[in-house]
Amino acid sequence: MYLFFCRTRRTLWTVTQSSIAHDNAAGSPDSPVRLRAVSAEGQPDVTPALEELYRGFEQELLVPLWTEIGDLMPAHPRSRAVPHLWRWDRLRELAAEAGDLVPVGRGGERRAIALANPALGGRPFATPTLWAAIQYLMPGEDAPEHRHTQHAFRFVVEGEGVWTVVGRDPVAMRRGDFLPQAGWNWHAHHNATAAPMAWIDGLDIPFQYAVETQFFEFGRDEIGDAERITPERSRSERLWGHPGLTPVAAGTSAPGTPLLAYRWEHTDRALADQLALESEGYGGTVEPGHAAVRFTDPTTGADVLPTLRAEMHRIARGAETAPVRETGSSVYQVFDGSGTVTVGDRTWSVTRGDLFVVPSWQPLSVRSEAGATDSDSGALDLFRFSDAPVFEALRLDRTQVEGTPR
Ligand SMILES: [Fe+2]
Repeated sequence: MYLFFCRTRRTLWTVTQSSIAHDNAAGSPDSPVRLRAVSAEGQPDVTPALEELYRGFEQELLVPLWTEIGDLMPAHPRSRAVPHLWRWDRLRELAAEAGDLVPVGRGGERRAIALANPALGGRPFATPTLWAAIQYLMPGEDAPEHRHTQHAFRFVVEGEGVWTVVGRDPVAMRRGDFLPQAGWNWHAHHNATAAPMAWIDGLDIPFQYAVETQFFEFGRDEIGDAERITPERSRSERLWGHPGLTPVAAGTSAPGTPLLAYRWEHTDRALADQLALESEGYGGTVEPGHAAVRFTDPTTGADVLPTLRAEMHRIARGAETAPVRETGSSVYQVFDGSGTVTVGDRTWSVTRGDLFVVPSWQPLSVRSEAGATDSDSGALDLFRFSDAPVFEALRLDRTQVEGTPR
């Protein structure tokens, strides 16, 4: 077995037979293209003339498909990311240390610490498209106002006391709340309490980085006194937060949901009702013992953000989900309960706050078990976000449940 290194893609090729016939180490020194002739199935016979042809390709910056097809057009998605788990207790511990050492202010903007998938070269990317970070704000601190094209949300696994101020609308953040914020909205945060608070941020930063669409602007250095008030409900909730009721006078043409907070009491009740209906013999769950809801834009019923999907799943104690593969990637956070998660060839016991990634086309299954984490619902609650809207818009979405295409 030989490894074939192609510098154009930084890719290791595995050649399963024969040998590397020639290795022109000199190549074409000014070219980033490096081609090696190999004797292998599907490859042309290695001859001095072929070597000469490859040197010509290198000089003219050309790469033939026949040496690349296995990497460029595999039989199924082969993610560059790998399954990985981050423990919440350790993340919070390190974030608290950062709270003591790293100020929040203009320039750095946020005390946000991102998950770096171990197979993505140390970049702050949880998956090739998704950013997930723990953000930590000390008592009395403000994170300054800015805006960017990246779509974002916050999800709170514990604590309260921080207000996110989106478009000068102060929005309370409490355990279980999901707070989306579409790109290009001004936003800041402030901690109005005497205790630090941590939460997770999810954004499409790696996607926009890859497709080179980012814009960013600084806002005011200080938010106004009117934005430091801490109303029970934000203006967006008062206007848009009524089930099935759309204000007749209010239009919105901006991308993403105008509702800035999806409160845990509603999410919890929706999940509990699904499982209760199932126990009464009615439909509504994804599969036995598996309730799920998707956070949606009240004006369209579509995903809350153009590039991000967010959902909450509840797995009843003792239930196990069927293995599912999907194109695109996801990040999960355990909101409550304990269980066992299997992603591809990795299996972990998980408890409250733990985060894990599911790369494209890696099978995921979850079992809900009694464990170290207390659970208010007696089940395993999982918050999930993914890049599904991008794949669906491009008609590249595909799902396979237990080996059956659908
Ligand atoms: Fe931001």
